[in-house]
Amino acid sequence: MGEKLHIIPHQHSVSKKDREQQNGHKGHVLWFTGLSGSGKSTVASAVERELHQKGFKTFVLDGDNIRAGLNSDLDFSDKSREENIRRIAHVSALMKDAGLIVLSAFVSPYAKDRDFVRSASDNDFSEIFISTPLEVCEQRDVKGLYAKARAGKISNFTGVSAPFEEPANPELDVPTHLMSIEKATEMVVSYVIKHVKLD
Ligand code: ADX
Repeated sequence: MGEKLHIIPHQHSVSKKDREQQNGHKGHVLWFTGLSGSGKSTVASAVERELHQKGFKTFVLDGDNIRAGLNSDLDFSDKSREENIRRIAHVSALMKDAGLIVLSAFVSPYAKDRDFVRSASDNDFSEIFISTPLEVCEQRDVKGLYAKARAGKISNFTGVSAPFEEPANPELDVPTHLMSIEKATEMVVSYVIKHVKLD
């Protein structure tokens, strides 16, 4: 622990403001939280396409991809989920410091873990709750995981045998079961134009 005393952060020669002015927008973390199958990655991906076309610098991070690489050592225990989100929090924060709009799509079932991401992002952070209810996610069962979880073949499955703490005060609530993907995308894109784009 004592060695940390000898770590002195390097100062960047390009400032936050320099990057913002070059990009025409702030660096920001758009954090998509919701049950598996709620539509987080689908919406994040459609929003990215739209923002990219409008000239924003973007990147999508999502659970299934990150868990195949950086976090392939982690399972779905509470402790591993916390570590999963802790690492992604830092990766997302670094990428937004580089000037990007980072669209991070993770189940992130625990409020305290999501709050950690918010503080690690220096509040350049918006929580987007993809609020599709369990019944709808389970009926969609795009990956067949709910059926497996109900059959007892997957343990600690969010919504079935592990909890999901709904965000109390998300910046945006997107109920994908009540709207088209286009409408959901438009909601998030309008939010970004209002809050993240420079005037
Ligand atoms: S998180 O809870 O740690 O934030 P993360 O978003 O990285 O989860 O990964 C969730 C994805 O892993 C789901 O979309 C699903 O495809 C898959 N998965 C496999 N096992 C589980 C499980 N026990 N609970 C939730 N998702 C699981």
